[in-house]
Amino acid sequence: CSRDWSSDVCSSDLIARLPKAELHLHIEGSLEPEMLFALAARNGVAIPFASPAEVRAAYAFSNLQDFLDIYYQGMSVLITEQDFYDLTWAYLERAAADNVRHVEIFFDPQGHTERGVAFETALDGIERALKDGEARLGISYRLIMCFLRHLSEEAAFATLEQALPHLHRIHGVGLDSSELGHPPSKFQRVFAHARELGLHVTAHAGEEGPPEYVYEALDLLQVERIDHGNRALENLALTRRIAEEGLTLTVCPQSNLRLCVIPDMASSPVRRMLDLGLKVTVNSDDPAYFGGYINDNFRSITAALGLSAAELVQLAENSFTGSFLPPDEVARHVAAVRAAAQ
Ligand code: ADE
Ligand code: ZN
Repeated sequence: CSRDWSSDVCSSDLIARLPKAELHLHIEGSLEPEMLFALAARNGVAIPFASPAEVRAAYAFSNLQDFLDIYYQGMSVLITEQDFYDLTWAYLERAAADNVRHVEIFFDPQGHTERGVAFETALDGIERALKDGEARLGISYRLIMCFLRHLSEEAAFATLEQALPHLHRIHGVGLDSSELGHPPSKFQRVFAHARELGLHVTAHAGEEGPPEYVYEALDLLQVERIDHGNRALENLALTRRIAEEGLTLTVCPQSNLRLCVIPDMASSPVRRMLDLGLKVTVNSDDPAYFGGYINDNFRSITAALGLSAAELVQLAENSFTGSFLPPDEVARHVAAVRAAAQ
């Protein structure tokens, strides 16, 4: 870039150029209002909105639960295998446009099985798109099945049971939905079972919940990374431990802002996490609901936090070193990040 680094043009150019992985993305949260309408019409599902603009206007949230209520309603238009394919394919095309080379996406099987949609219908459609994405867009993937933490331990076990015939197609388990009042300890046994099955483990912790929930995710669930982790910064000993163990935090700046986890973008934990040497990554969480995909999230924090080129490169590297990819593939991606930064 021939201009001054502080100009948006330069940082935006580097953000676009950097190869990156997205590690915190709920595929159901990539359902854009236009697709919501198209699928509602295709499946004869009634929705309480007259236009995509009206849907967008309804996306004003005061907290996580406000959002989740609308997010679960939105899922009701996803019925057939083709619906899940179309949803996932649309996300992958957006990801490719942002130079995303690897994705580790979440899906919420209970959000579908509870409505009478088969576990396999969701899995088949999502996986078919991921395979096409790998072949046609060059985006590698891992698929992470989340348990809804507002539901019971028994329901989580039933979901793990449904996954048993498909363990070669599912790479990990996660924990999402309403955090407050649903600590990780509730799922200690189901996560132990998932680990015994050889699945990777991650969990949302410290988004709205206190640092104790992050401790529980680490000690009781034995997670390999922490999704969000904002409130871990309230506890010095915990912060030190995350640094020493090199744990990855998958932070979602625009989600944090839209769910009032932070008062403004300048308060994004990305600044402090970088300063403390934590392995932080930047992700979009539910881009259709929070107004931006991964590069939008990078651009928002770059402007608000005054990130340097070296910090952007660090964030892109972290996205690969924090992934579940094998070391040789991580090394190849990190080399590509450094080449792109030249
Ligand atoms: N499900 C989808 N997005 C989520 C988030 N940000 N936190 C918890 N559960 C979610
Ligand atoms: Zn999330």
